[in-house]
Amino acid sequence: MKILITGGAGFIGSHLCEKLLGAGHDVLCVDNYFTGSKSNIAQLLGNPLFEVMRHDVTFPLYVEVDRIFNFACPASPIHYQFDPVQTTKTSVHGAINMLGLAKRVKARILQASTSEVYGDPEVHPQTEAYWGRVNPIGPRACYDEGKRCAETLFFDYYRQHKLQVKVARIFNTYGPRMLPDDGRVVSNFIVQALRGQDMTLYGEGTQTRSFCYIDDLVDGLLKLMDSPPDLTGPVNLGNPVEFTIRELAELTLKLTGSRSKLVFRPLPSDDPRQRQPEISLARSSLGWAPTVALEEGLKRTIAYFRFIL
Ligand SMILES: NC(=O)c1ccc[n+]([C@@H]2O[C@H](COP(=O)([O-])OP(=O)(O)OC[C@H]3O[C@@H](n4cnc5c(N)ncnc54)[C@H](O)[C@@H]3O)[C@@H](O)[C@H]2O)c1
Repeated sequence: MKILITGGAGFIGSHLCEKLLGAGHDVLCVDNYFTGSKSNIAQLLGNPLFEVMRHDVTFPLYVEVDRIFNFACPASPIHYQFDPVQTTKTSVHGAINMLGLAKRVKARILQASTSEVYGDPEVHPQTEAYWGRVNPIGPRACYDEGKRCAETLFFDYYRQHKLQVKVARIFNTYGPRMLPDDGRVVSNFIVQALRGQDMTLYGEGTQTRSFCYIDDLVDGLLKLMDSPPDLTGPVNLGNPVEFTIRELAELTLKLTGSRSKLVFRPLPSDDPRQRQPEISLARSSLGWAPTVALEEGLKRTIAYFRFIL
């Protein structure tokens, strides 16, 4: 199949490109390199089935493809808050452009949505039926509301134009090719530990997160894309095992052998206290569940950061 991956030079996108090429598909990677990089896909450039296009998804795109993975969007608060108007445009105009393309060429399209659509949840863990609690005017809203509006568009195209859509709500994912300086907690801790710098925790480090290793996530995304047409999602994809941020910091210290100190800073506004995916739908409908434990995934990620630092 001819498969378009927007945001294909980013962290998740580049792993998807690699996996789909490995399965013999013709892959078109589209990216504007805002947070992605050519080095993420450099190893794929010799493959005749791989093609790269510099393009911003807020502008229309005319290509012939069978499937679309819509992943273009900065994902870390530092980057999505850098130009919040552009972030909303990327989510909303990007979705409109990619859905328009999917409609024209009758392609199946999968949206990279996010657990951030649940906001700071009152329901724990979050099932897909939970509508969320998002502050629409806060500094995270450009991302959260942009992604919520993209989901709305996906379901309107499904109902109005009978498009084959799939919506994945991705929870915290980590692994090689995350950016070292994007403020996401796993990469932050590893980089600080490897550099022997203080490790920054917000609040008391008692807020919880669940961390999914990239290989598990890619496996879930491919299963969702291949699922029967009536399975539109949204489907939560993430690792339900919950850790406090403090536990993550301590495990990172242990695995890196670092002597960094833990330091505590005030909580940023709208920071969710708790985040845990409820993945029964993915288990029952896709036969999917994560298999890589945090310690194993962290070891692989630490090896990558040791190499690039
Ligand atoms: N990593 C996670 O834990 C996570 C969690 C939930 C959702 N997601 C979603 O998955 C997708 C990929 O996330 P990631 O972690 O790989 O982030 P990333 O920043 O590494 O990848 C995003 C890619 O999109 C590109 N991009 C940004 N704006 C663009 C535009 N206007 N036109 C074309 N390309 C553009 C960037 O250059 C980058 O290559 C995002 O949509 C994100 O919201 C990620």
